[in-house]
Parts: sequence; C-alpha cells; structure tokens
Amino acid sequence: MTIKPEKINETLLHYAPGSAERSAVQQKITELKAAEVIIPMIINGKEVFTDQHVRIAPPHEHAYTLGYFCEGKGVHVSNAISAALHAKHSWAVKSLKERAAVFLKAADLISTTYRAEINAATMLGQSKNVYQAEIDSACELIDFFRLNVAFAYEIETIQPCSHEGIINRMIYRPLEGFIFALTPFNFTAIAGNLPAAPALMGNTVVWKPAYTQIYSARIIMKVLIEAGLPNGVINLIYTDGPVTGDIIFQHRQFAGLHFTGSTAVFKQISTTIHNNIDLYQNFPRIVGETGGKDFVLAHASCDVQALSVALVRGAFEYQGQKCSAASRAYIPASIWPSVREHIVHMLDEIKMGTVEDFSNFINAVIDEKAFDKIVRYIDAAKKDPEASIIAGGKYDKSIGYFIEPTIIEASNPQYVTMREEIFGPVLTVYVYKDSEWNQVLGIVDTTTPYALTGSIFAADSAIIEEAKKALYYSAGNLYINDKPTGAVVNQQPFGGARLSGTNDKAGSVLNLLRWVSPLVVKENL
Ligand code: SER
Repeated sequence: MTIKPEKINETLLHYAPGSAERSAVQQKITELKAAEVIIPMIINGKEVFTDQHVRIAPPHEHAYTLGYFCEGKGVHVSNAISAALHAKHSWAVKSLKERAAVFLKAADLISTTYRAEINAATMLGQSKNVYQAEIDSACELIDFFRLNVAFAYEIETIQPCSHEGIINRMIYRPLEGFIFALTPFNFTAIAGNLPAAPALMGNTVVWKPAYTQIYSARIIMKVLIEAGLPNGVINLIYTDGPVTGDIIFQHRQFAGLHFTGSTAVFKQISTTIHNNIDLYQNFPRIVGETGGKDFVLAHASCDVQALSVALVRGAFEYQGQKCSAASRAYIPASIWPSVREHIVHMLDEIKMGTVEDFSNFINAVIDEKAFDKIVRYIDAAKKDPEASIIAGGKYDKSIGYFIEPTIIEASNPQYVTMREEIFGPVLTVYVYKDSEWNQVLGIVDTTTPYALTGSIFAADSAIIEEAKKALYYSAGNLYINDKPTGAVVNQQPFGGARLSGTNDKAGSVLNLLRWVSPLVVKENL
C-alpha cells in the first residue's frame, strides 16, 4: 500500500445507462431494500443492540421500511466515552504511518468494494440521486480519507529551527481526552470526515450521526473496521441529543467538538461548553460548520446562460439541502427577463421523484419536519404582497416529502426568504436596478448573519475585483462565475465565517491542526 499518497482526487463515475457502475448500484438498491436490517451501535468495536428500535424509511417513500436502528441511552454514551479513553494511549502512540494505513485502506475499500453499497445507502436513506451520492459518499469521502493523510504528513514537516548543539522538535500530540463528532444528514462524506480527521491525528472519538444518516453511517463504520481501525478509536452511538450532551459536555476529559449542523445548535452547545469550562482538564477545541444563506450576485456584464445553470444547480441539487446552496440571488433588471426565461425553462425540464429512477433530478427532502418548515415559507410567500412565486410552489407528502423547486421573486431585499436559512429547494431573487450595483454590494454583505459561500457573476474583471473587495468577509468560500456548491477536497478547502462556523477548512491542513496539541522539546546535545 502507498503511504504518503499523492494528492489526487478520486475519479468521478458517470452512471451512464448500461454502465457497470449503474448496474452495480441498482443491484445494491434491490438488496438493501430487501434486507430490513437492524442496525446496532458500535462501542469498543462491538455491536450493541437495544430493545428500542427506530424505523428507517426512504424520504421519497416513507411507508417503506428499510430497517431499524437501535437507539441507546445514557449508559451507552458513558460506555462510548470509556471505550474512547481506554483506546486512547495505544492509538496515540502509533506512528502516523500506522494510523494512516487504516484510512488509506478504507479509501481503497470504498473505491473498489463498497462504492455501490455506500452510494445505494445514501440514495435510499437520504434521498440523494446517484450523481449527488457519487460526489458525496464515494468521491468526497474517499478524498477526505486519502488526502487528510497527505496533509498530516505535511504537518509533521513543519518543524522549528535547530542550531549546532541544540535540537528543537515539535511533536504533534493528539489532544488529551476524547473528541465528540456530531454529524449532519446532508453529506455522508462530512459525517465520515468529522470522526476520521481527529482520529487520524491520534485522537479517539465518540461519534453521534444525525438519526436520518445512520443508514449510511453504519457502512462507513463497517469499512473502517475492515480497514483495521482498532476497537474504541471511533465509537458510533445513536442517542438522544440532550441525554448525550448532558454526559459528554460534563466530562472532565471532553477535549473537542467536531460539528456540522445548524447555527442554533452550535450556539447552544458552545454556550454549554463555556458554562462548564471549570469542569474540564483542557480548554476544549470547538470546530463547527453551521448555517448559511448563500448568495449569487450577478452583474449586467455576466454570461446569462452560465448564470442560469449555476442558479438551478446551485439552488436545487440535493433539494437545496446543502449548507452551500444558493438561496438568495441578486439579478440586474436588464438581464432578468432573459435569466428568468432560462431558469423557468430548465425547471420545466426537471423531473422529481424517487432515486430509483435515475432521470429524476429532484428527490425528496429529508423528513416531515423539514418538509413542514419549507412549506411554511412557500405558503407565506404565496400570500405576501412582497413576494411572487415564479416557478414551482407545489408540494405533496403523501408518498414522499416532495417539494417542487421553487423560485420566489421578492420586491424587498430584506424579505424573510432573502434572510433566513430554509434548507430546502427554495431560491429567492431580488431584481435590482442596474444603476444600484453599489448599493446591492452593501445589501449582499449585511442582509444575513452568515458568511459561508457566495458567487459573483460578471465578465468585467474590474467589477469582479470591486465585488471581491466589498464581499471580503461575506463568505468563507467565494466563487467567481460558478455555482456556490460543490467544494472539492484540496481544491476548495471548505468552511465559513461569521455565524456560519469557525472556518477551520475541512479538507486541509488547517482542520487537522485543530486536532493536535503540539509539544515542543529543546534538547542540548
Ligand atoms: N462541501 C459542500 C459543498 O461545497 C457543502 O457542505 O457543496
């Protein structure tokens, strides 16, 4: 096996009709649907079953039972912490080469053996179409596992200066204690990276995935175990949020949080941690990627066709359930009629339905709670004189949680759907007078408390520079003439500022550095 891998991204498969990869994933979908699995937690490398079985259904077909997961209680949280602490020393003293071997092997296993299975699980459990699953649970997950190893080797080469008779060394120790990874439903890759990145650096982890992602999380865990992950290094639990939080955040050896989820939950957890600060042996590291209200700002000089494609893909791929999704657009009046015609035409062509029909671009939103929240915004817009629905607006949850890709035109740039994160297939457009470009730059910057992603569309390079300057702190990931989604590991390290998170760039050395507590040793010879 290669150690110190080249930083090469996994090649994307295309799932063309008749391709081997398409047949493989179709077959896995059939097998998974027939299996009705009971999914145990994994604590200290052992399967832990409980009597509390929670049903798992595909969001696009909620009457169908895919299986059940075993919900745990407080005792399982405590057992997971004990297992992590017990495994810590022997894992931490392993060389980077030994730890890296596990994640490189896991990347190879996903690439060659488990690709169809993990994609099928992501498709069924999270209602992602095959193309969205492939960029996530195959490519991005493999990239995190493989490229993090390359970043970790780079970190080891960052060493202080030594002189004749004196050797100075920086030893990249893991943090003292255990890490808690709290992971989201919307990217299987992020769910895998949040426990894996600290573990690669020698930490041990308690991992609690979103209940709506457990169906694919279990496959990540299976692969890691097959790749040689020692018992207790990552402990996978399915426990209620408040019960888990009470135990984790009061533990003396809680050393760090790796989080992706909502701004509200991250604020609440951060407050709890700060309130408990006297309980801890160390100041915990808090790393979080949270909400977004990501913008697309168009200038009259831009390529209308490219802008229109970016709006549709950026806003509606994976039903807009990406924290990076385009959700507010600012379009100059001179090009709006043409942009509107393009996007409405594209939406007319788009199909919505189950993931099993690969021609469906739109599938279901994740669950009933999300459906109801998104629909409330759409219904309110239907009645509000400041809003008009120019595409979509219909929804139906009788079979699955389906919401049409919806475009709202708002006459007020402060309209609620221009400001609040909806996390669904809703794009709001504000059409500005071409002469108001400068005012619009200010509006884009100040309308929301978030700063995750954003796109600027313009052909004029002076205009692009001006916008980049005005929007310097409005995003953590800024795209010029491209959609604001789809960051690739090692190409666009990902993370936002302001209320979008701590901006510790997943998929880069910056994130891995958060999971070490270096020891500097000076030795006189
Ligand atoms: N990394 C994803 C994207 O860029 C969002 O989490 O779309």
